[in-house]
Formats: sequence, C-alpha cells, structure tokens
Amino acid sequence: NTPSSDEVSQECRELLTTLPKEKGWRTSNIYLYQNFWCQPKEIDAIISMQKHYIAEDTDIIVSTIPKSGTTWLKALCFAVANRRLYAHDSTTHPLLTSNPHALVPFLEYKLFANQEIPDMSRLPRPHLVGTHVPLGALPDSVRESQCKIVYMVRNPFDTFVSIWHFMSNLRPDSFGPLSVQEGFDMYCRGTIGFGPYWDHMLGYWHESLRNPNKVLFLRYEDVKEDAGFHLRKLADFLGFPVSAEEEEEGVVEGIAKMCSFEQMKELEVNKKGKGAIVDFENKNLFRKGVVGDWVNHFTPEMVERLSKIMEENLAGSGLSF
Ligand code: A3P
Repeated sequence: NTPSSDEVSQECRELLTTLPKEKGWRTSNIYLYQNFWCQPKEIDAIISMQKHYIAEDTDIIVSTIPKSGTTWLKALCFAVANRRLYAHDSTTHPLLTSNPHALVPFLEYKLFANQEIPDMSRLPRPHLVGTHVPLGALPDSVRESQCKIVYMVRNPFDTFVSIWHFMSNLRPDSFGPLSVQEGFDMYCRGTIGFGPYWDHMLGYWHESLRNPNKVLFLRYEDVKEDAGFHLRKLADFLGFPVSAEEEEEGVVEGIAKMCSFEQMKELEVNKKGKGAIVDFENKNLFRKGVVGDWVNHFTPEMVERLSKIMEENLAGSGLSF
C-alpha cells in the first residue's frame, strides 16, 4: 500500500517529471514542490487544496511538521474551540472515542486527498483543519481572511528521533530497514516530508512575530511544562477566553488532563483504531511523548552536525533550541 506516482492525477504525474527528487522515507521518492519536500500523493492533494480551499474568517488551521506534536495540538485545539459544546468532563466527549486526526482532518491527507474536493460548508463551524504545508504554500485566502493559525514547533533533535521510529514502523517491508545514519543524513539535508524543518518553522515563526493575531507559535516543550498557561493563551488567541466561571470549574486543568499523552495513549481508539490519517494504526502516533529523548539516540557527531545546521539556519531569527 505504498503511495506511488501511479495513483496521482495526470497533472501531478506530469509535474513530478519536472521536479527534483530524492529517495523517500516510506515512498520510493519524495519531490521538491514549491521549495518543500513531499510525497507524490500529498503533492496531488496540495495542488487541489491550493486551487479549491477558501479559508473563512472563522477557520482554525492547526499546523506542524510531522512528529512535532500534531496529534496533541489537534486535541488541544478541538477541546478548547468546542468546549461549550462538549464539556471536558463529559463521558461522551468526542476525544474519548475519536483520534484527534479524525476530528481535525488534514487538508492534504484527508479533505483534498484522492482527488476529492470537499464541500466545506457541510463541516461544523468553526472549521478546524490540520496541515503540514509550509505557510508560504497555503492558498492566498489563508493570508487574506481573518482565519487563525496555531503552529507547534518541537526541538528538532527530538523530532528526528520521533520521525525515525515512526518511519521505521511504517516503511513497507520491501524497502528494508532504515538505519539511523541514513535517516539522519536525509533529515540533515532537509529531505523530510514538508522540510527542511528549519524553513518550515521559520515561515510560521516570522509570521507570528509580524502578525501575532494571525499565528500563535507554540513550543512542544513549553506546553509540556505548563499546559494550563498555554491553553489559556490558546483560548485567548482563538477568541474564546477562559471565563472566571470556567476557571472555577477547572476547565483548563480538565482539558490538559484529557489531552495528556498518558490519557490519550490508553484510549481504545488510540490502541486499536486505525485510519485516522491514512491507513495505519493509530497506536503509531503515541510512542514516548517526552522531552529530551534524543539524548538516548544521538552520538556526539550527530549533535555537532545538527546543532551547526540549526544555528546556521536560525541565525538572527530569535528562534533557538
Ligand atoms: P515521540 O515519538 O517522541 O514519542 P505527531 O503527532 O506530530 O505525529 O507527533 C508524534 C509525537 O508526539 C510522538 O513523539 C508522540 O508520542 C507524541 N505525542 C502524541 N500524543 C501526545 C500527547 N497527547 N502529548 C504529548 N506528546 C504526544
């Protein structure tokens, strides 16, 4: 079930022949489309999304690079944005029976995938959608409308460890194992889905500085450290601030707990379910969920190489790890 270039539209097939390509992590190749690396099926969906997705003022776009906390961020945004509809302590809260990716669908893996054009007017409002697409490649309506973007960045060292484990689990057997060295080299050259990571984070980072009402830039590590503080910030940013009454009821703490790694990992839907993004088991989205696991995987040479790359690329941006 490896997505191959045969499954894409004629337009995309023709485009692929003109794009730079590299070896993929779980597809034969990834291609450089509009300055980011991407798998064929996703490029096909992104082309369609770029043509047909018209962001509305009330839309909320949850954006990340893969393995930087997407599942968590989607859960937090869904819980905050819908808390008047679904109380955090309700036994029928959708996050107890659905994976966050099913509640906050990806533009490129779900809504515009498989050459489909969704009828967005049929989705409940506010529209909560996810994407891994870099900011600059989102359609003009995203910039022109009042829609909001919530971005989560994660320490690139931990993100690499997470990607490597994830890809190792999901690669087709016929590809053989992916050594840490080979994966790390691809990562450092920027050839990861939606990467290079530094370009991805810088796009959202600069926009969050220019336009803080448009882009909320969160760090995985900070949210881990103090989820309550960042949930209040998220609620303010989305325009549904936490009320005094909600504070008294412990709504913030309740949401933080419901969305915690420990709780989410143990849910039936996340242990046994599949297909929330594409056709893999949801359990692959929950591994350790900690900060700093990279120390268990990086050699001194790897630390040196990635530190240098990040320093060079983030120099002068005000962003560092
Ligand atoms: P690890 O592989 O380091 O454990 P994404 O959701 O973008 O695919 O990212 C997956 C990473 O987020 C994995 O990291 C996963 O364990 C972690 N994760 C998943 N759910 C989480 C949660 N509720 N809280 C914190 N981390 C979570």
